[in-house]
Amino acid sequence: MDEADAVGRMDQEIVGGIEARPHSFPWIVSLQQGASHFCGASIVRVGPKEESDIILTAAHCVADGISGVYAVAGAHDFYQPSSGQTSVRVARSVYHPAYDPDTTMNDIAVLKLERPIKFSGGGCGQTPVAPRPNSLSPGPQLSSGAAILPVCLPASGEMVPDNTEATVAGWGLTREGGYDTSSILMQVGVPTVNSRALASAYASQGILIDPLAMLGAGYSQGGKDACQGDSGGPLVMKSGSKYVLQGITSFGVGCARAGLPGVYTRVSNYIPWISTQIKSLSSVR
Ligand code: ARG
Repeated sequence: MDEADAVGRMDQEIVGGIEARPHSFPWIVSLQQGASHFCGASIVRVGPKEESDIILTAAHCVADGISGVYAVAGAHDFYQPSSGQTSVRVARSVYHPAYDPDTTMNDIAVLKLERPIKFSGGGCGQTPVAPRPNSLSPGPQLSSGAAILPVCLPASGEMVPDNTEATVAGWGLTREGGYDTSSILMQVGVPTVNSRALASAYASQGILIDPLAMLGAGYSQGGKDACQGDSGGPLVMKSGSKYVLQGITSFGVGCARAGLPGVYTRVSNYIPWISTQIKSLSSVR
């Protein structure tokens, strides 16, 4: 039995996760092409209006172009579309000029939608349905109508503390080497990893980590992680009553392997670049 099989047998969700409460991650977007999900993304606020035509994702999700790509917001279960679910074509994409597909450095992109998506409330990082605690059993499935709200962005240069709970969500593979992505939104809690520890873990794989531009999250024993199809989606941390987009799911070696945490684009490193792109792309004022 190889390592991937061992991981697959232990865990049957995002990897090692649980089904999200419907609409508890109201900023999450599914990027789809030909009605098939391939990456996640997050809605951000662009101005005082309660709508936005800007989403953030990973550069590697859109590096091959955006032809026929739609952003689906307000979704939970693709087989049971929510009432307020909305699908908007991606009109433009700008990925980071220093994105390097060989090293996955600067894996971030700003996408503009063909039309703005209306929010179902104000502020940022608020959620009408509290996300399920990562460590606890299911609890009530309070399903309201679809909620669509922007996530908060971190302060520029903000560094999150080590070993702090973060939550990653997505419709990606539920096990390494799996065949189908999930039709239901899954979530998993993973602690942030010290950047030196992250760099040395990946050095053993011949992969260079830039600690200012990348953020690691996962358990040393593995078992819980994002996986293929979760890329581009949000890693959030709670700050007071708000959820802040600290990471964008970027890469890993396999999924949920011991000693190899998931690697996320560190959003706080890109705030000036993101603001500039939003100003030049958004039609919302
Ligand atoms: N690159 C993958 C994607 O395109 C995401 C991989 C995340 N992997 C991980 N082990 N955390 O969906």
